[in-house]
Amino acid sequence: MSPFPQIQQVTVIGAGTMGNGIAHVFAQNGFAVTLVDVQEKALEKALATIAKNLDRQVSKGSLNEADKTATLDRIHTTTDLAKGVSNADLVVEAATENEALKLSIFKTMDAHAPAAAILATNTSSISITKMAAATQRPEKVIGMHFMNPVPVMKLVEIINGYATTKEVTSTIVELSKTLQKIPCVVNDYPGFIANKVLMPMINEAIISLYEGIAGVSAIDSIMKLGMAHPMGPLQLADFIGLDVCLSIMQVLHQGYGNPKYAPCPLLVNMVTAGKLGVKSGEGFYTYTPGSKDLVVSKSFQEKE
Ligand code: CAA
Repeated sequence: MSPFPQIQQVTVIGAGTMGNGIAHVFAQNGFAVTLVDVQEKALEKALATIAKNLDRQVSKGSLNEADKTATLDRIHTTTDLAKGVSNADLVVEAATENEALKLSIFKTMDAHAPAAAILATNTSSISITKMAAATQRPEKVIGMHFMNPVPVMKLVEIINGYATTKEVTSTIVELSKTLQKIPCVVNDYPGFIANKVLMPMINEAIISLYEGIAGVSAIDSIMKLGMAHPMGPLQLADFIGLDVCLSIMQVLHQGYGNPKYAPCPLLVNMVTAGKLGVKSGEGFYTYTPGSKDLVVSKSFQEKE
């Protein structure tokens, strides 16, 4: 029995960084979770990541071994999307940030999930209203935007689509509290709030580097030491993925039609060159598996 009677069975679509974190948090808080991905290998990797992150909590004393085992026992996996959503009370879609892919997943979820199920998306910037319009239940479609790393970050940005009902919003608000998260409700406009505010700051940091105003370490140190940010904007861009940052800037630029959101040409070049940050091993910094050292990427060292 989950701590939230209305919602017992949760299906999470996509076993990447966000999907495995979302599955982790629901399972740890007593919900039965089905994790869906197109690739069996991605599901195996996600379970291994969840186990590793639970171990981290056990070693810090915030979780015991029995709770870790119970959490893992609550997670089942499948590569069959239709079957995976067939008994869901809530689906949280966390697939790749690709509009066509998400629209197709929403159509399939709508066709196979129970009529009463709420369909949520963890999208960081794609229109909730557009995804809702791909279904026959736009009033039950909502944004549930978790932050990375999901087990650590307290915020869930809840985004009302054009047709989302008050009942559905209030269910998701209360549900987020049972996940020990803090929900904040916003409306569906490009970038919502989190990324409408965060991404222009990151883009401005990249513009400052591009214009030669300061080097990578100086920009990040100023924001860490001066504004008490846990990571500087360039390190955070690497952590989020430079491709994701670029795609969100493009959504803001197109959505508001305002040149202030134009992505920095350096960001565009880095993504074109495959320098995507942590996931590709290099962005503004270079990353070596197993090492926590922050080493400025060779491309920017001479400007330090
Ligand atoms: N699972 C579980 N626990 C984790 C974890 C994970 N994946 N990652 C880190 N932790 C825990 C650690 O065990 C540690 O726990 P204690 O405090 O109990 O010791 C704690 O988190 C801190 O971790 P570390 O000591 O390893 O490292 P750190 O102090 O450098 O913190 C960080 C790491 C939490 C990532 C911190 O640097 C941070 O908060 N960075 C900013 C993150 C951020 O801004 N996220 C939002 C990105 S934007 C987004 O996600 C949305 C979007 O749409 C783009």
